[in-house]
Amino acid sequence: MRLIILGPPGSGKGVQSKRIAEHFGLVQISTGDSLRQAVATGAELGRQAREYMEKGLLVPDDLMVKLVMDRLDQEDARGGFILDGFPRTISQAEMLDDLLQKKEKTLNAVLELKVDDRVVVDRLSNRRLCSRCGADYNLLTKPPRVDGLCDRCCGRLIQREDDREKTILHRLQVYHRQTEPLEAYYGEKGQLLTFDAERSVEEVSAAIVEAVESGAGG
Ligand code: AP5
Repeated sequence: MRLIILGPPGSGKGVQSKRIAEHFGLVQISTGDSLRQAVATGAELGRQAREYMEKGLLVPDDLMVKLVMDRLDQEDARGGFILDGFPRTISQAEMLDDLLQKKEKTLNAVLELKVDDRVVVDRLSNRRLCSRCGADYNLLTKPPRVDGLCDRCCGRLIQREDDREKTILHRLQVYHRQTEPLEAYYGEKGQLLTFDAERSVEEVSAAIVEAVESGAGG
């Protein structure tokens, strides 16, 4: 099974793609996580991407396309994947189509998460992550038991550099301008499934599983 999850920052792509990957036994491929890891380890890709990410801009297509092509060539991706955060531009989508066509594969569905911009700002400005194990907290909906510390490993909770309000607003503008056109792109191909992502995490996952299992979108 090959899926894409699309949506604005904070729509729940990360949370949902992990759950969907687990449910269907797929590999979750998050370009945001890969880039953050490259930044943290000082890899060349991280050095090239860092400034774009901190400003809430998209990393250039050529870097992203190479990252995703290499990742999809790995053994574990052959059994099926969910792409989280890719494609984000029409040219990235076209590149993915070419790649899949060469491999004689197709997408099963493109899952689109819809949330209002106001909800995005609330969610992301309240997101905190464990600096040690990466666990996700939210001061509004999922606060840690002890202020500033991870429940699981007592690691220090930090805020992502791009989760400051000014950068969130910028990321939203970039999303509406550069990524939203993918809605029409995949809609015209009959692959788009749209979900109200303002509901609870569990309700959104259940709706996605039901739609994918019924064969909608592909
Ligand atoms: P990336 O990491 O992909 O960031 P993003 O798209 O801005 O997404 P987020 O991780 O902020 O949000 P999400 O939708 O995954 O939501 P999450 O599940 O975390 O990319 C970062 C940067 O990398 C980009 O800005 C760009 O620079 C670069 N980049 C990445 N891919 C690229 C590409 N293809 N091309 C070019 N550049 C690229 O949830 C958010 C919060 O909300 C959490 O606290 C969560 O607990 C909470 N939450 C989730 N769902 C719910 C719910 N239903 N109810 C209540 N709270 C919820």
